[in-house]
Amino acid sequence: MNNMNEIFPEGYAWIDGKFVKLAEAKIPILDWGFLRSDATYDVVHVWQGRFFRLDLHIDRFYQSTQKLRMPCQMNRDKLKKILAGCVKKAGLESAYVEMIQTRGVSPNFVRDPRQASPRVMAFAVPFGWILKHEDFEKGLDVLLTDIKRIPPSSVDPTIKNYHWMDLVTGMLNAYEKGNDTAILVDENNNITEGPGFNLFCVDDEGVFTPDYGVLEGITRQTVFDLAKELNIPISKTPISIEQLKSAKELFATSTAGGIMPITKVNGELIADGKVGINTRKFHKIYWEKHKDSSWSVSINEILSK
Ligand code: PDD
Repeated sequence: MNNMNEIFPEGYAWIDGKFVKLAEAKIPILDWGFLRSDATYDVVHVWQGRFFRLDLHIDRFYQSTQKLRMPCQMNRDKLKKILAGCVKKAGLESAYVEMIQTRGVSPNFVRDPRQASPRVMAFAVPFGWILKHEDFEKGLDVLLTDIKRIPPSSVDPTIKNYHWMDLVTGMLNAYEKGNDTAILVDENNNITEGPGFNLFCVDDEGVFTPDYGVLEGITRQTVFDLAKELNIPISKTPISIEQLKSAKELFATSTAGGIMPITKVNGELIADGKVGINTRKFHKIYWEKHKDSSWSVSINEILSK
């Protein structure tokens, strides 16, 4: 077995009521979160000491726990202090911060989920990118797979969840073929999302993102908010494979990296293969907002309250 300290990045976790080094954070084997992926989570990032849109992430987390009929019992202020505490203890300036609630362990292994006691935990690790900053001009080369994203009639995608087998298969296919990541489709072969990101397509009419079968990403919401400021027409609509391939610009959005250009699909260039003008505008203003106190809050401010 690998040495935990060798395989874990630097980071801190909060579990069972205390802060511990990431490598020491463990859950019992009988937690339904592990055995059945019966869990929800949210990811927020910290950039240069400030959380970005923290309240929106916490809102989504609370909504997810409610939809799973295990409403989170921890109040917002305590949760914020725990998240900020993980970042502070890890000594990170910029971080990927995850809050998790699993169904927990049920007494004597009874199958009824209502009998379990939900478990809340959190951790912070160094900021991670789906597309690294230095590769921005190159952009992502994605594999358009024929893998169907788990349909909303099976698992509600607005509950952020660990049902990632379809996404992981997509990633493995993409890496095998030399692509950076993958895009999955829905039952009608319209595009959905990828492993950890939403998708946007730009044409002469404006900016579009799938309206169905996807996580309602906070970065996706941020693009809508920024589009208003920038006066760029934007809407949610089904996007076909043809529309994807003939787009003027494509970009991915995620807490793990922000707004990231997609310049190739299956190795073929999107438009001229350069980062598009709208993608650049969104990217610039998105990072500017990270310093703005109506969009972000500092770790120290949370911890000093
Ligand atoms: N993933 N779609 C899926 C399936 C996701 O897991 C994510 C985020 C997104 C983008 O959502 P947001 O803009 O709120 O980050 C879309 C996180 C970052 C992760 O699991 O690493």
